[in-house]
Amino acid sequence: MSTVDWQQRWVDGNTPWDFGAAHPFLVHKSSSFSLTGRALVPGCGSGYDVLALARGGRERTVIGLDLSEVARKRAIALRDDSGVSAERAQFVVADFFEYDGGGGRFELVYDYTFFCALPPAWRERWAAKMAQLVSPGGRLFTLVFPVYGRGDGSEGGPPFSVSPEAYATVLEPVGFVQEEGGAIPSEYARDYSSMNPSFQERYAIWVLRKE
Ligand SMILES: C[S@@+](CC[C@H](N)C(=O)[O-])C[C@H]1O[C@@H](n2cnc3c(N)ncnc32)[C@H](O)[C@@H]1O
Repeated sequence: MSTVDWQQRWVDGNTPWDFGAAHPFLVHKSSSFSLTGRALVPGCGSGYDVLALARGGRERTVIGLDLSEVARKRAIALRDDSGVSAERAQFVVADFFEYDGGGGRFELVYDYTFFCALPPAWRERWAAKMAQLVSPGGRLFTLVFPVYGRGDGSEGGPPFSVSPEAYATVLEPVGFVQEEGGAIPSEYARDYSSMNPSFQERYAIWVLRKE
């Protein structure tokens, strides 16, 4: 199974996933989360979604995590131009699977184009790590993309296709329960026609059961 050399992609500036803005549906939803605590965006890239979440809540601190120092520098530059404070939007270079939460768990984790970036054989590890990072009663917001074919990563991409069921298969056994989800209303959908017009997206919001 081929994996992506993310570090090299950032060094080369080969980042076709970068839309230059937060996902419109996250912007729409971000203010509806009545969160005052910490939020995490793993695989945040340039960090647009981190800034959208930081703007959405009055007392919220959002941490953007990425493997790449190049991505972190870019995200910090964009943040500093945006007017969002360094206290509200922080950027950390770390491997998601090694990350200890920086001293606590998160009320909200947002995953967009991170689950699909990982080899499908790592999906159970991804879910187990999410269950460690989300606070009991906290939420995991998955923007499910790219929905294609069976969604098991064996066809389509980039780099690996997904399906709503692919998330449920690994999240439910570790204690997540779906709170809401489905199609993204057309006014908040992203236009993927420049990539592949057959790509589709969905969303699902999961709550981690309090034992
Ligand atoms: C497809 S890109 C998506 C970036 C961003 N979510 C966006 O939509 O623009 C995937 C990102 O995940 C990062 N990444 C991949 N594996 C990672 C890991 N194990 N830990 C942290 N970041 C990782 C890559 O460096 C890359 O920036």
